[in-house]
Order: sequence, then C-alpha cells, then structure tokens
Amino acid sequence: MTHFKAQFPKNFYWGGATAANQIEGGYDEGGKGLSAADFVEYIPKDQRTKDNAMEITSEQIRKSLSGESTARHPKREGIDFYHRYKEDIALLAEMGFTAFRLSIHWARIFPNGYDETPNEPGLQFYDNVFDELAKHNIEPVVTLSHYETPYGLTEKYNGWVGRETVDHFVRYAETVFARYKDKVKFWITFNEINMITISPYTGGGILSDQEKDPVQAKYQGLHHQFLASSLATKKLHEIVPGGKMGCMLARMSHYPNTSNPIDVLKAQQDNQNNLFYTDVHARGEYPKYLDRYFAKNNIEIVKEAGDDDILKKYPVDYISMSYYVSMLSSDSPEGEVTAGNLMNSLKNPYLEASDWGWQIDPVGLRVALNDMYDRYQLPIFIVENGLGAYDKVEEDGSIHDDYRIDYLSKHIEQMKEAVGDGVDLMGYLSWAPIDLISMSTSEMSKRYGFVYVDKDDEGGGTLERSRKDSFFWYKKVIESNGENL
Ligand code: BG6
Repeated sequence: MTHFKAQFPKNFYWGGATAANQIEGGYDEGGKGLSAADFVEYIPKDQRTKDNAMEITSEQIRKSLSGESTARHPKREGIDFYHRYKEDIALLAEMGFTAFRLSIHWARIFPNGYDETPNEPGLQFYDNVFDELAKHNIEPVVTLSHYETPYGLTEKYNGWVGRETVDHFVRYAETVFARYKDKVKFWITFNEINMITISPYTGGGILSDQEKDPVQAKYQGLHHQFLASSLATKKLHEIVPGGKMGCMLARMSHYPNTSNPIDVLKAQQDNQNNLFYTDVHARGEYPKYLDRYFAKNNIEIVKEAGDDDILKKYPVDYISMSYYVSMLSSDSPEGEVTAGNLMNSLKNPYLEASDWGWQIDPVGLRVALNDMYDRYQLPIFIVENGLGAYDKVEEDGSIHDDYRIDYLSKHIEQMKEAVGDGVDLMGYLSWAPIDLISMSTSEMSKRYGFVYVDKDDEGGGTLERSRKDSFFWYKKVIESNGENL
C-alpha cells in the first residue's frame, strides 16, 4: 500500500473574512446613507427573548428615525476600520495573509440605493483600502451585499421584494466593477443567500410586517436576488477580464437523527432546502424538487419573460460558503435543541458546542466540501469558518485562546483531507481575523479574531488592537501552507 498524504495546493489562498457593517463604523461619514444593518439594536443578553436580534419591525425603524428610541446600534460603530484600516491591514499582512474578504457597504456608494450617480468619497474609501491591500500583496475578495441593503430601498420597495431593486443593484455592481477592475478579481454577490428566507430583513431589507403574505414576499425577494446575481455576473465578465464571480451559502449539512429511513428522508429534504440556492446559482435553474415545497407553502414566484434565460446563461464561476455547524434532522423532532448559525438544531450527542451553543463539527466540514464538489464540480472557496468565544485578557495583556486554535486546527485538518479526497479548494478565509460586532447578537464579547479589539458590549474601550496567541499560530499555519497545525 502506498502512503497517501493530503496537501494544500501551492497557490492556496490563506486569510480571513469580514463585513463592512461589522467592522467599518463611520456610518454617517463620507456621504454614506443608512442601511439595514444600521437599525439593528443591541439587546443585552438578560433582556433578549430570542437567540438573535436579526428581525426588525417598522415600528423599531420609525422610533429610531424619530429619535424616540434610545437603543444602541453597534453596527454603526463597528471597530472603526473606517479610520484604522491601515493599521488593521498591516496586522493581517504580519500574519502572512494572501487574501482578505471584505464587503463594500452599498450605501457608501449609493446612499439611498436608488440614486442615479455614485458617491465619490465612498468610492475613494475602497480605492484606499484596495491600494493598502495591494501594498501588502493581499488579494481582496469582495462581497457586494453582506446584509447591507440601503434603507432607501426598504422605504421605497420594501427592499428586495421590489423588482426595481434588481436594477439598482446591477447599477451598483457595474459601478464598482468599472472602478476597481484593476484591483479586484474575486467577487461574491450575496453573503449567505439563504439568509433572506430565514431573516428577510437581514438578508433582503424586507420588513415582514409590511407584507400581507410574508412567505411569498421573501421568496419573491430571493428570486430577485438570483436574477441580480446572474446579471452582475454577466457585467463582471464584460467589464473585468478574468474576473471571477462566486455565490455564497451558509452551508448547513443535515444528518439524520437516527437510522430510521423516515429521518434519512427528512435529512435529504433539509439538505435540498439548503442546497437549492447554490443549485440555482451554479446550475442556472430552479430544481424540480422545489415544486412540491412551493406548492405546499403556497409560494408562487412571479417571473418575467426572459428570467429563466438569464439564470441559465450566467451561472457563477465558483462556489463559496460559510461553515460553522452541522445539524440533525428528525421526522419527530423531540429532544434538546441548541442554537446555531442562522438556525437552531437538535443536539448531537457526539459534538461539543461553543459558548453560544453552536455545535462544533470539523469532520462535517469534510463532508460538506465533498458533497458540494460532487454536486457542482466547481472550485470551492471557504470564506467563513471560526469560533465565537469569550476571551480573557491577562494582566500582561496576553490572550491565551487555545480553544480557538483547537477549533481552527481541527477544521483545517479536515479541509486538508477534503483536498486529498479530490475537492478543488481555492482557499480558506477564517471568520474573522479581527474581533468585530457579532452579526446575530450585536455583541462585541462574542470574539472571533486573531487580533483583539479593546471594546465591550456597551461600546466602551480604547479600540486598541493586540495579538492573541492564535495570531502567532495562524502565521505559522500560513507560512507552512497548512502543514504546521
Ligand atoms: C455568518 C455571517 O452567518 O456568521 C457573518 O455571514 C457572521 O456576518 C458570522 O458574523 C458569525 O455569526 P455571529 O452571529 O456569531 O456574528
């Protein structure tokens, strides 16, 4: 028997991923307009009635705009990347990053979303950021929309429910492709496109209380995002020679809770419900298995002539995904439930969980990668994976985050095995290289970074950056192309 050793390819991208609304701050600077994320409120843990605070009501927005609400909006503050990007990028470079994922805050470029002309200071800001990355030989991977639908589009069209939003998005995409064509090669249209059906506000700037039929509205919004993604892909290929467009899914592998075939069937259906988004993006059509789901849920997608052609003609170039958890499927879901990324799940007795209840499953990453590659035969980019945890700063300022190192090394190990299984993997971008505002809870204490940011849940702190133990560990991982874990 010959010994087989899995290895990462030489040109593998190593780095980390962020989103504008979770890092930038400067929410009203440089002509920026308001976006969906700017209205998300911080609710202290002891006052929260749900695991997350993602859905927002019209009343919350009204109170916030009229000044009646005293709620804090941490995503307006971020971690001040808007002013500190040079220092932050230098830290990423010190770890040896070869790629960095960030999003463009759409409302910096088109403050209301529907404006005719772009906002020059917003465009200039990202020019500066991309130039800084280039100085350090870091390849940008840019998301066009990471839960940042401009509020103007919510006000006018209820976000992605309105078909008009497609045209506004395409104008925005064309604008940034033309502006950054020599600086950015890798693009992603929508972060976790499945979010729109889980939290329509977060994923699509949709206020569900404004809709008679919220279920129909969110799937209609999703159809518009699919179209917008295909049209943006078309434009990218016209404007940027060699430009690569990816879709992005929060991959949730579902395992059957038992070997009872009825649970196996349920797991298959749950997996289809997760994978249908990438099916449309990569195969260019709605899968047939959705017909039954749509009929059962009274969903009827309104299409215009030509929509199906657009989807078919402009599929994505690569698949990107976030991977945090796996889930259990059961036909009779009884038993302990635990939180997870975007969705809760039954507890898996074989897995440990993070401080937030998210189940940790490194082998599940290998399974997910193999499933995705078998299905699409397209290159895959892991653009999010990481551990949200409480960190303790020691008296001498050091931070011993061995739990994070443990989590990441086990996932990287499994990812390497997936490469050995034959998966064409482009790179690994961990979430997130620097502490930032949590998407689901707007907490600061849910930390993901290799770099610590001195800021607390109430907004206090110096914002000073410091290196955790994982910083030095990740540097070695990158230096050794994933050999030294
Ligand atoms: C992903 C999102 O779902 O999970 C990120 O794309 C998010 O925006 C990440 O931050 C981790 O989730 P959370 O809620 O812990 O910040």
